[in-house]
Amino acid sequence: MLQSSDSRAHSDSDKWHKYSGTNILPMWIADTEFLAAPAINDALQSRIEHGVFGYGYTQPRFINGIIHHCRSQYDWHVDADWIIPLTGCVPGLNFSRAIAYLRGKKRAVTVEPVYPHLRKTSAILPGYENAGSPCILENGRWVPDFDALEANINDETGLLLLCHPHNPIGRAYTDTELARYHDIAKKYDLLVCSDEIHCDIVLNDTRHRPFASLDDDARDRTITLMAMSKTYNIAGLSCAFAIIPNATLRQEYRRVSAGMTGDVNVLGMTASIAALEHGEKWRRKMITYLRENAQLAEKRINATGKLHMTPVEATFLAWIDARGLGVDNPQRYFEEHGVGMNDGADFGAPGFVRLNFGCPRDMLEEALARIEKAVAAAS
Ligand SMILES: Cc1ncc(COP(=O)(O)O)c(C=O)c1O
Repeated sequence: MLQSSDSRAHSDSDKWHKYSGTNILPMWIADTEFLAAPAINDALQSRIEHGVFGYGYTQPRFINGIIHHCRSQYDWHVDADWIIPLTGCVPGLNFSRAIAYLRGKKRAVTVEPVYPHLRKTSAILPGYENAGSPCILENGRWVPDFDALEANINDETGLLLLCHPHNPIGRAYTDTELARYHDIAKKYDLLVCSDEIHCDIVLNDTRHRPFASLDDDARDRTITLMAMSKTYNIAGLSCAFAIIPNATLRQEYRRVSAGMTGDVNVLGMTASIAALEHGEKWRRKMITYLRENAQLAEKRINATGKLHMTPVEATFLAWIDARGLGVDNPQRYFEEHGVGMNDGADFGAPGFVRLNFGCPRDMLEEALARIEKAVAAAS
C-alpha cells in the first residue's frame, strides 16, 4: 500500500512549515505526502546504522541503475561516461546557462508558464536574459505556441530550456511536439537543456521520450536533467544527475560546474540506488493513485463553473485557470479560504494557481471542498 506520513506538520518540511500554526492546507511546493518506498527506507536505515558519513564516490550501482532505467523505461541507450551526478536539477539549469554564456550567447528561451527556475537568471551571469513565449489552449490542453517560440529567438539566443514533462501545465509532450522543439533548436543551433525531473510520473499511458533520444543531432546538443527525487519523494536528499552524450559539451559542462556545488549526499545516492533497483512496483501503484487524484480534481474543479483545469498528463500538479473567479489575487484568496496553492504569477501566468495533488485522497477531498466553498463565496 502507498502510505502517507501523517506527522509532516511537525517535521522539517518546507511545504508544511509555511503554514504552521494555521488551518491552511499546504498544497503548493512540489513534493508529495507519501512515505518513500519501503526499499528506500530500508536502504537508508542500514546506511544510517553504519554510522560513518564521510565523502562518498559515484557508486557503479548508481550509474548502472540509471543505464538500466533509461533502457527499460525509455528504450534509450545511455553510456556510463555520459552520466554526471548532481545535487539537484536546478544547478544543472544554471550550468547550461553558463555554457551558453561562455559561448557568447546571453539569452535563453523557454515556453511559459513554466517552473520558476527556468525563468530566472543567475546573478553570476551579468546581463543574462531568459525570454519566455506563451502556450495556447488547443483542443482542451496547453500547447507551446511554436511560432511565438521561434519569433522569440534572436542573435543573442543560445539556449532552449525545455521542461519535459512540463510543470505546471502537466503536459507529457508528444513525439510531434518534441520534433517541433528539435526543428527549432537545430535551425538556430541552440544548446538544449531538457529538464526531465518528472519523467517517471507520466499518468496518461504514454511512454516518456527523452528529448535527447530523438536522433543524433538532438543527442549531441542536449543536456538532460533527471532525478528519482519527485517520483519517490526524496527531493530533500539532494541527488540528481545530468546525461550529456556529447564529449565536447560534457567537457564544457565540467568546466563551468567544477567547484560550484558539493558532491551528491551519500544518503541521496543510497536512496536513489534503492529507487532505481527496487522502486518500480511502488512507482506503478503511485501512478494509479495519482491518476485517480487527478481525475477527481479535474472533475470537481471544472464543476465549479468558475475555475478551469486541463487534464494532467504527467506530474502531480494541476494547473488551474482562476481568472473567471473575479478576484484580484486567486492564490491569496484561496489561502484565505484554507488552501495554500502556488501563485501562477511565479510561473509567468497571473490569475492561475497550481494545486499539488500528490497527497492522500482525504487531504485532496478536503482541499477541493474548501476550494468549492471559496468559489461559492466569490460568486
Ligand atoms: C521542472 C522542475 N525542475 C527542477 C525542480 C527542482 O529540482 P531539484 O530539487 O532537483 O533542484 C523542480 C521542482 O519542483 C521542477 O518542477
